[in-house]
Amino acid sequence: MAQQDKTPYICHIFVCTFTRSGERKSCGDEEGIELRAVLKTAVGARGWKKWVRVSQSGCLGRCDKGPNVMIYPQGIWYSQTSLDDVEEIMHDVEKILRDRLAELHTQ
Ligand code: FES
Repeated sequence: MAQQDKTPYICHIFVCTFTRSGERKSCGDEEGIELRAVLKTAVGARGWKKWVRVSQSGCLGRCDKGPNVMIYPQGIWYSQTSLDDVEEIMHDVEKILRDRLAELHTQ
């Protein structure tokens, strides 16, 4: 039987990197693959790896709105995301971390 646990991360960022090789619109054919790499580097550069995980995902079912990035467990989605949005996403993640770490500190 599977062992159920709470997520070890404060934020888990999933970046759709699914590609259809140009047959239909897909995140991986746009900037999804580069986005994942740049987000991963940005998280590492900020020293957040202990709390934030960046993972690639398969199709999230909203291909027409891609590239798609989602953050869980907060349930935040970014659609039509580009490399220009990385700083905004990092800003949002920083706020989530600050709030959650402050919450943990007072418990
Ligand atoms: S290819 Fe990214 S949501 Fe479908």
